Amino acid sequence: MDEISFRIFRFDPSRDAEARYQLYRIRPEPGLTVLSALVNLREEQDGSLAFRASCRSGICGSDAMLINGRARLACKTQVAEAAGDGTVTLEPLRGFPVLKDLVVDQSDFWEKLVRVKPWLIPGPEPAPERERLMRLPAQQFDELSRASDCIFCACCYAECPMEGRHRAYLGPAALVKAYRFEADPRDAGSAERRGALDHPDGVWRCHHVFRCTEACPKEIDAAWAIQQLQRRLAARHLRLKGDA
Ligand code: SF4
Ligand code: FES
Repeated sequence: MDEISFRIFRFDPSRDAEARYQLYRIRPEPGLTVLSALVNLREEQDGSLAFRASCRSGICGSDAMLINGRARLACKTQVAEAAGDGTVTLEPLRGFPVLKDLVVDQSDFWEKLVRVKPWLIPGPEPAPERERLMRLPAQQFDELSRASDCIFCACCYAECPMEGRHRAYLGPAALVKAYRFEADPRDAGSAERRGALDHPDGVWRCHHVFRCTEACPKEIDAAWAIQQLQRRLAARHLRLKGDA
């Protein structure tokens, strides 16, 4: 393919009455990523194009966007792969207010993350002299470690159909982070997280559509992590019922 069209969503809420799509043409080189193509476009064709990026290597999570309708990291997507019919369409992540072009306001995403208290809450026992060691069988450690790989790109959040319909739903990323600490044997924060998790807009809003798992660029099985949280809470409800 000699040339590829980039069809890019353009919108500046401070100036534009409505959004539009702008067409650019580029000559693809082998190995060119969507992010590199965007950088080239901004440097060579249109300095007003807004997008967010930092590490360029799938670590910072800042360049998530819709690439041909699917939430992906621009730095991990090859232009040759995305341009099936010769056109790559780029749009901002679904479900977020647009700040400019491909840059969205993620305040809601971060606020939901904080609601699950994504940090280690130690129990009342005295702190050890040195570090708190985690003792877990290898498989459980791997599962917990996988959940720690989240880079907060929000691809899962943008793809989740429940998030689209119920704006108060915590969403997969916050629940993955909650699972990371709930499954940590050193953590004693379940009671503090329960209000957010054991709630219609917490774990119970998930209907296991698995779009979050499919979308995750770090191969985190978010739907599985949510299922684990549901199991833990269901077991607690059964215990309480048994005690009554
Ligand atoms: Fe991104 Fe995956 Fe974390 Fe969701 S769980 S924010 S898709 S890294
Ligand atoms: Fe950091 Fe893509 S630029 S993940």
